Amino acid sequence: MAVYIESKTLKTVPKYDKSTPQYEQIAADALSNSINHLNFAYSQKLCGAEGAVEFYDSGVYTYDNHGKRYLDCLGGYGIFNVGHRHPKVINAVKAQLDQVCLHSQDLLNPWAAHLASQLASIAPGDLQYTFFCNSGTEAVEGAIKLARLATGKTEIISTNNSYHGVSMGALSATGREIFRKPFEPLLSGFVHVPFGDIKALEAAITENTAAVILEPIQGEGGINVPPIGYLRKVRQLTKKHKVLLILDEVQTGLGRTGRMFACEHEGVVPDIMCLAKALGGGVMPIGCFMSTAKIWKALEANPSIHNSTFGGNPLACAAASACLEVLMEEHLPARSAVMGNYFMRKLQEVKEQFPKFIADVRGRGLLIGLEFQSKELREAVQEELFHRGVLVAGTMNANRTIRIEPPLIITESQINFMINTLISIFTELHDKLTVLHYPREERVS
Ligand SMILES: Cc1ncc(COP(=O)(O)O)c(C=O)c1O
Repeated sequence: MAVYIESKTLKTVPKYDKSTPQYEQIAADALSNSINHLNFAYSQKLCGAEGAVEFYDSGVYTYDNHGKRYLDCLGGYGIFNVGHRHPKVINAVKAQLDQVCLHSQDLLNPWAAHLASQLASIAPGDLQYTFFCNSGTEAVEGAIKLARLATGKTEIISTNNSYHGVSMGALSATGREIFRKPFEPLLSGFVHVPFGDIKALEAAITENTAAVILEPIQGEGGINVPPIGYLRKVRQLTKKHKVLLILDEVQTGLGRTGRMFACEHEGVVPDIMCLAKALGGGVMPIGCFMSTAKIWKALEANPSIHNSTFGGNPLACAAASACLEVLMEEHLPARSAVMGNYFMRKLQEVKEQFPKFIADVRGRGLLIGLEFQSKELREAVQEELFHRGVLVAGTMNANRTIRIEPPLIITESQINFMINTLISIFTELHDKLTVLHYPREERVS
């Protein structure tokens, strides 16, 4: 265990020089600083135990301080849609560094304005206006406030097992007790209904309902794809009752599910849409919520009633603009659909081969959930994948499920590598379990 020694002198940023690798020192410093100054839980994390420190990244790969390469099938929880350090995004940010980094807050900000116009040109329907913030949580927070402001109503309907972030407003929408309970009382007026259940949703609508907030596919809930037609019915229902529809596309947006926005699979146009994660091109943090000119009128009387100092900063906007261009130029939404189908077909084959291990394969595009028969099995396989150079992670609200959300530029041969690694782990596990299950004398040779 690392020992905490308080120091009053400020250490300079260590130089991680590839030509003079001081791997052991880097790892030791990273671990003790993480334990002493971030969270003690790092001592229990796999990367901590292994001393695997992030060192370099490129394309679909992350490299640790030992030079070990990891195929990134996690995508930083959905931020690396265009890959790690895409040259176009990097160059845009480098150029921006030489011009304006953070804005004066007083003059017009041409980078934010340009990005907003780009988003309007690709967003579904008549979503025309954008407010920029710095994260998905803030995007949801702002969307909830806008819905209340525009309707004059207070109730928000969300879904069980949803994940919308952890600030008090976004957390009130999030549908999992483990996150909510310790912070109650949360905002009043939030109710949760089962995801995919249109009747339950209709029953929850009252005269005071401002909005329904949904992820088109629940990400942290375990990659839950609702029944076909659900989103369309939600749209019809919300229109009928004059309730706003907020779609949280923080994880599903920007090509992840095989369309630019997941709501496009059902031709649905929300009233408010939240984006973040991949919007920054895997280089800068940025989030936003978008809405129609009609709803945006609610903000006209006092445009700074909702605001953010760093929101829309030129560096983040330059990255996001370049990211949108890459998504379009490299046809990444379509690529996600094709590669996602391939990945899921291969995973289905693995499931048929090892039904004792895999319970379900589900998802859309390159947002894939791999559900195991138990949490313990999921943890063991995830750890082994890590050792063999593949990054994946569980989902926040479903502990038997591994999320697979690689950069959308992943190739067939990289998918094959992941699949073959998985098969080799299952084969070894299968043999081990067989040995454990049948004592030697009972085994048929
Ligand atoms: C659908 C959804 N909404 C909101 C958030 C919160 O985003 P952030 O972590 O950037 O605050 C997440 C994060 O995983 C998410 O998946």
